[in-house]
Amino acid sequence: MTFAAYVFDAYGTLFDVHAAARKHADRAGPDYRMFSEIWRAKQLEYSWVRALMGRYQDFWSLTEQALDYALARVETVDKGLRQDLLDAYWKLDFYPEVPKVLKQLKAQGTKVAILSNGSPAMLQAAVENSKLDTVIDDIFSVDLLKTYKTAPPVYELVTTNYRLYPDAVSFQSSNRWDVAGATTFGFRTVWINRLKMPDEYSDCMPSLILPTLDGLA
Ligand code: 2OP
Repeated sequence: MTFAAYVFDAYGTLFDVHAAARKHADRAGPDYRMFSEIWRAKQLEYSWVRALMGRYQDFWSLTEQALDYALARVETVDKGLRQDLLDAYWKLDFYPEVPKVLKQLKAQGTKVAILSNGSPAMLQAAVENSKLDTVIDDIFSVDLLKTYKTAPPVYELVTTNYRLYPDAVSFQSSNRWDVAGATTFGFRTVWINRLKMPDEYSDCMPSLILPTLDGLA
């Protein structure tokens, strides 16, 4: 089965959101993993709450607010790390298999794109820093719509721009909630279960579950 477009979530799927805290683990101390989890969880919570309230602020702003919350909550992490952690977020590591798999897909003649909550500047920086700009055809950001996943118009950005029916698009995300939203919209979905999480959203099942992007191409 081939698809006209392979569309990827960015954070957690292509780019490792915990790479920023890991990079500064020595200075962040023993609680850096929990700290990074809280930073990420709050960033996502803010996106859902703001989408529901209709009070959009861009994802960079939410990332900063979530970091401030995590720093206040986990007192063992040095608050002097704030700027270094934010700087690292612009240059997150990609997962090792990402360039190879994206190149293989592109060689098959399909579109390869990102659909993300990230602000256009964040996404552009992450893609350029990882040198993935040669394989990624388009970056679709929610910023155009001033809302967040899992609002259906976000997924519709892809079908409108590519003039495709949803089932011609294969959407990959490591975020189970994002897979639920994309499945509901009608995409073929692949859950990249990198962290071996238990399944959820049993009425919004992915077509395929993979541990990494390997096996996609
Ligand atoms: C995304 O990149 C937040 O990971 C989510 O849209």
